[in-house]
Amino acid sequence: MDRVLELISRETNGFRPEIGIILGSGLGEIADEHCKIAIPYNEIPGFINSNVAGHKGRLVFAEINNKKVVMMQGRNHFYEGHSLEEITFPVKVMKHLGVKTLILTNAAGAVNESFHPGDLMLITDHINLIGENPLRGANDDDLGERFPDMSEVYKKYLIDIADKYAKKLGFELQHGVYLANSGPTYETPAEIKMARTLGADAVGMSTVPEAIVGNYCGMNILGISCITNYASGTSEAKLTHAEVIKTANRVKKRFKALIMAVIAA
Ligand code: HPA
Repeated sequence: MDRVLELISRETNGFRPEIGIILGSGLGEIADEHCKIAIPYNEIPGFINSNVAGHKGRLVFAEINNKKVVMMQGRNHFYEGHSLEEITFPVKVMKHLGVKTLILTNAAGAVNESFHPGDLMLITDHINLIGENPLRGANDDDLGERFPDMSEVYKKYLIDIADKYAKKLGFELQHGVYLANSGPTYETPAEIKMARTLGADAVGMSTVPEAIVGNYCGMNILGISCITNYASGTSEAKLTHAEVIKTANRVKKRFKALIMAVIAA
């Protein structure tokens, strides 16, 4: 960790971001537009160079609306074969850099039958069905407790701020529970029925590990899902990554406006 912090401090001239953002599939453009300094993941020890379509793989430092921000342009996933500890290492780095508020974004399938592709959903809570926990193993008492409370991972006050600014921008946000599967397969119709029975509104393959670690080290978390498709079995259409990216692209203007407003607030 010391080596990483030293490198970042050198590259960024001691930049101390207060807001961290992890950008999901097709949502990375905001980092391109506001990039001040970027460090490719392959130059940072402990970061994994991600090659998934729609993900770029660099840590971007920027000043947005007078706030210092660090963005992960592209994230790593459990389905790529990495451990949850590996994929959440950047969150710990953000904590050491001074990040207090973490905005997590993703592309997700609609489990809730009143949701539609193109909707943005504020994550109110999550269900971890990845089957592992990133905090398994020896605890780092300097970062957080052995048995972290999870009763308000996604902070109500941040949800209220996002709702308020979305309204000002002229759109409504959905609210719901995000269920994370390990992937890389999309779900079967039976699994989506199960997700609905369990109380999930949206389903995806990310975010939950980062939320667990961010919450553990005391960050205030806002989670936003871009609903990119009807989940398996709820429409005739076959599910493709191309569709996910296409919808994310369609929504990115609204999505960016919302992120910008939340940062300013
Ligand atoms: N399932 C899982 N992950 C996803 C989906 C989905 O339907 N859409 C985007 N990411």
